[in-house]
Amino acid sequence: MHFATAPSVVCLITAIRLVSAVDSPLITPLAWDEASEKAKSFVSQLTMSEKIGLVTGSYGSGPILPCVGTLAAVERLNYTGLCMSDGPNGVNRADSEFRMKGVHVLLGPSTGPMGRHPRGGRGWEGFGPDPYLAGVAMNESVTGIEATGVQTSSKHYIGNEQETQRNPSTKDDGTVIEAVSANIDDRTLHELYLWPFANAVRAGTASVMCAYSRLNQTYSCASSEILDTILKDELAFLGYVVSDFGATHSTVDFAEGGLDMEMPGNVTAAGFPCYFGDKLLEAVQANKVSEERLEDMASRVMTPYFRLHQDKDFPMIDPATGPVLFVTQLGHVQVPSMAGMFTEVPAIDVRADHARGIRELGAAGTVLLKNVNGTLPLTNQTSFALFGNGLPDPTIGSTFVPTGGEDAPEGYEIGTFDIGGGSGSVRHTDLVSPLEAIRTKVKALGGRVQLLFDNNEIAAGRFTTIYPTPQVCLLFLKAWATEGADRPDLNLQWNATMAVESTARLCPNTIVVTHGPGVVLMPWADNENVTAILAAHYPGEEIGNSITDVLWGTVEPSGRLPYSIPKDEADAGPPILVVPENTTDPGAWTEDFVEGQMIDYRYFDANSGKEPLYEFGYGLSYTEFDMAPGLNVQLTGGSLNQHVNKSMGIAPGGMVDLWTNVAVVTVNVTNTGDRAGAAVPQLYVSLPQDTTPPGTPVKVLRGFNKLHLRKGETKQATFELLRRDLSYWDVQEKEWVIPRGQITLFSGFSSKDIRANTTISV
Ligand code: BGC
Repeated sequence: MHFATAPSVVCLITAIRLVSAVDSPLITPLAWDEASEKAKSFVSQLTMSEKIGLVTGSYGSGPILPCVGTLAAVERLNYTGLCMSDGPNGVNRADSEFRMKGVHVLLGPSTGPMGRHPRGGRGWEGFGPDPYLAGVAMNESVTGIEATGVQTSSKHYIGNEQETQRNPSTKDDGTVIEAVSANIDDRTLHELYLWPFANAVRAGTASVMCAYSRLNQTYSCASSEILDTILKDELAFLGYVVSDFGATHSTVDFAEGGLDMEMPGNVTAAGFPCYFGDKLLEAVQANKVSEERLEDMASRVMTPYFRLHQDKDFPMIDPATGPVLFVTQLGHVQVPSMAGMFTEVPAIDVRADHARGIRELGAAGTVLLKNVNGTLPLTNQTSFALFGNGLPDPTIGSTFVPTGGEDAPEGYEIGTFDIGGGSGSVRHTDLVSPLEAIRTKVKALGGRVQLLFDNNEIAAGRFTTIYPTPQVCLLFLKAWATEGADRPDLNLQWNATMAVESTARLCPNTIVVTHGPGVVLMPWADNENVTAILAAHYPGEEIGNSITDVLWGTVEPSGRLPYSIPKDEADAGPPILVVPENTTDPGAWTEDFVEGQMIDYRYFDANSGKEPLYEFGYGLSYTEFDMAPGLNVQLTGGSLNQHVNKSMGIAPGGMVDLWTNVAVVTVNVTNTGDRAGAAVPQLYVSLPQDTTPPGTPVKVLRGFNKLHLRKGETKQATFELLRRDLSYWDVQEKEWVIPRGQITLFSGFSSKDIRANTTISV
């Protein structure tokens, strides 16, 4: 099962709770130090090679390759090993669900990349470019998933913003050209890219997956600066750091740099060299890696296992997992040396009624961008055209596994995109296309649909089969994104722009629905015959039912944009770094993040002449809302001293005082329209420019609510501000500081639609 990705601000939290909690008993984790003691005592009973086995991936103990990442069992101590499976949006290369399938570690959630580049191939796996929003989402994901006793692996740490050259490459003469390096200054790192990881650590994430790429010239998985100094010391992280798969490039530097577990390790079939395993054993025996360090690594690996009670009653791995993984990766090929690995075994079916939740959340997260004169919801129309290559079932089969992103940067031509590609994708057991759902709906209403899927035919205006002219033309367009490649551009693909223009010439009531990974350009948005636009993202396997519910108004499209849509690509963040292929400089792939925090709405705020097409936080509703002008702030007695109170101590997430509540902000919101709906009031904070160093954003998101309001009803939105929310990272002091002066708070319905403000004097 999987749920909506690139989620819009509001459906997210419910989504995570729902998906995580379904059918699994909820557990109460052990305290970290208790778990850590159990882990140490377990590790003290191990032989050296068993310890190495805890920090190096392997085939596991059975005859089949069970999981994407596997640790061997230690049977004499009743330890059954670990099974890791992707990913952020559902169980990948398996049929469904994590705990019930015996998966100990969910390789997600993802907040790296964050979305410095909307063209990045993997932004859709995470929560968008705003750190506060991503932080809330990471917290909810980790808490919800771990409450079912499944470990999370928050990824990819850190600065892995582009897919292009995410890994090193080797030239014909043997020269290794290193992976791309994100050079990020300390303040930007803390206030933007690290922020959501801190939430994940505070929420108890079991592990952190270090990235393929380099940060400040050092491989992320070997950087003592970001693994030891920042993650393990400053954020007080007590779990383990696992490498992205194949991101380990040597033994001593990586083990001593802070990497605790190599994946996939000894699995030669995965095609990566192994640097832990025997090599780590040799390094320990030669005193190049200390035995204490190995013990620390192994204990860290075992701590979350005990913390989440995986030593008790954890379901056994579904025996179908190995064969599904094998077939998904390689197809039904006969590889003599692997005979037996893909014998079909019936899967344990744990889907129950999860499709209902997916349908609900896919609909609730849809963002309504344009709706002229109440075009939507549809009422009693009966004559429809269904246009566009995003309508039917995929013609290539409903699980799309290209061998690498760069082989298919545009995806497949005909068929709906309900999810992106790569390890974050999900194998469907069912897929309800928009065509299937809408056609069923229109038939039930006694209406008629005329179809045209081929975008080239539509773009060319070959509408000779279309008669009579439909009352409503629904045009389904799509954009692909996948691990392994960055998007070629930000357009909807397959001749989409021409397809809109020509549909709009035929049909004065053209409704455009986009399915895609996030930002897509809409040069046709102002076309007066385009009467409504819905950004439906990648909503998952119930894609058809979700959009049908929105179109006919069974469900309110209460999603809000978790990013800004620019008018053109020039305002869509810094370009992806591309170095000429003939470079011989091993360090050529190096990028200074000179824009600092000025990405997305922070960029538009900082450049007053620039206007987005649709801004961060924006989204219409089927009703209307108003906000009272008065914003009420109550200081809760938490200290507004400039400096953190260190005497409160440190716990996972960092200084305890950073997470104390300092203020509660309230504002009234009223439904002024003529039907029920959900408003999404947002809170932005503006730190003073004159008492903070240059590079402070004009304003930053620091709260959001979702209020369900009946017609005419008024409710209060409440935003709780933590000390961290009012602080900036002081690079000299190396700590969070609340600036002196006036801090302004703004509330509204988007980053530009501000309705109320007030100030706090510090
Ligand atoms: C991806 C990770 C994933 C891993 C295992 C890597 O290529 O970057 O996100 O968890 O593969 O499939």
